[in-house]
Amino acid sequence: MIVIKTKEEIARMREAGKILAACHQEIAQRIKPGVTTQEIDQFAEQFILKHGATPEQKGYHGYQYATCASVNDVVCHGFPGKYELKDGDIVTIDMVVNLNGWLADSAWSYGVGNISQQARHLLDVTKKSLFLGIEQAVDGNRLGDISHAIQVYAESEGLSVVRDFTGHGIGQEMHEDPYVPHFGPAGKGPRLKEGMVITIEPMLNTGKFHTKVDEDGWTARTRDGSLSAQYEHTIAITADGPVILTEL
Ligand code: MF3
Ligand code: CO
Repeated sequence: MIVIKTKEEIARMREAGKILAACHQEIAQRIKPGVTTQEIDQFAEQFILKHGATPEQKGYHGYQYATCASVNDVVCHGFPGKYELKDGDIVTIDMVVNLNGWLADSAWSYGVGNISQQARHLLDVTKKSLFLGIEQAVDGNRLGDISHAIQVYAESEGLSVVRDFTGHGIGQEMHEDPYVPHFGPAGKGPRLKEGMVITIEPMLNTGKFHTKVDEDGWTARTRDGSLSAQYEHTIAITADGPVILTEL
């Protein structure tokens, strides 16, 4: 069941989203060779708490951290830890902010120091694919229109779209209906309606789309060891078109 949100509820999610966006802006300044993903995680947690919100991922199905920190071949759900970021790495920081019971979810990939042309291309195309998806998030379209726009562009740039993880509805729960694949045919799936709030969060790989999960039960990697990037926003479908809730 897709939960439709009122304007007031969307406004609350927007406030959570602003805190999240401000946190990403600070993280962008802190991503440097020698910094550990645990330091980034601790910064994010403190930032969220300082703004009167809580990190929703911490404790979610036993997940122990405020953020996911996914380096290089890690697709998503990497654990923050003692790993020191090094020149040439790419890292995706994903987090969910809870402000008075309403949630916002956003992930961003960052290059560390000087990155390869291949990594730069992956980041640029993944970010652009998110915005092409967002353009399709309009009342009257089908969910598949979002999915298709992302897949066509990503594949035209020689990248693959991860199948095993998708976007999702969000509100008072982190994961609500519908699930939002980043691949598939246009014109299919539920019709998008004013008041729906979803995440769009394409994960693109330089190699094949297949993933595998580590022994820890969380860390998802590309099977072929290729690089993976992800950009995610929380989007409200409104009478005035798509509204990005997770920007300043
Ligand atoms: N933020 C993620 C998403 O985009 C979910 C993270 S899983 C968690 O759907 F366990 F870390 F919370
Ligand atoms: Co997320």
